[in-house]
Amino acid sequence: MLRLLVCVSGGGTNLQAILDAIDSGKITNAKVECVISNNAGAYALERAKNKGIQALCISPKSYESRDAFNQAFVEKVMEIHPDLIVLAGFLVAIPAAMIEAFPNRIINIHPSLIPSFCGVGYYGLRVHEAALARGVKVTGATVHFVDSGMDTGPIILQKAVEVKEGDTPKVLQQRVMEEAEWQILPQAIDRIANGRL
Ligand code: GAR
Repeated sequence: MLRLLVCVSGGGTNLQAILDAIDSGKITNAKVECVISNNAGAYALERAKNKGIQALCISPKSYESRDAFNQAFVEKVMEIHPDLIVLAGFLVAIPAAMIEAFPNRIINIHPSLIPSFCGVGYYGLRVHEAALARGVKVTGATVHFVDSGMDTGPIILQKAVEVKEGDTPKVLQQRVMEEAEWQILPQAIDRIANGRL
């Protein structure tokens, strides 16, 4: 049984997709052991608690420096000792020590077709704003392994989504989530949990 740590910052719809996929059997041989957020107000934490899953907040605001936060965060993750860390809308740079400690054991969902609209400054709604500003006709989502760069690790799965006339960033974000993110993130976890990657 693959023990997952899911890291979140916001609404947690990707976390919910993982929990639903475990319930429905789309993900097998995996369980969510713990959810960590950097943001105490993240609704994702409520989703975890509703399922009886350990939900923790480790906020940079509670520490004197970024180094102190990083150290506390890494220590907690080491204590949980997950088999796989899933970044599901986690908008915090992962400390180098954590990447070294979990090689090929951290995956991230990004709301574009990498290498488009990714890297520093591209997160959440900003990704969709940039895609619409550029006028692309197709966008999508990517699940990838996390390495020391920003959105640079090996790609696991991608799914394309059509951009439609009149889309706003929010409308496009919702379509990318429904048609791509909530599908490929559970699929990637299931593959890893069942040794198919
Ligand atoms: C998702 O769209 C995810 O792809 C994005 O944040 C959103 C979180 O939504 N992640 C990034 O932009 C990472 N660079 P959620 O909290 O409802 O899952």
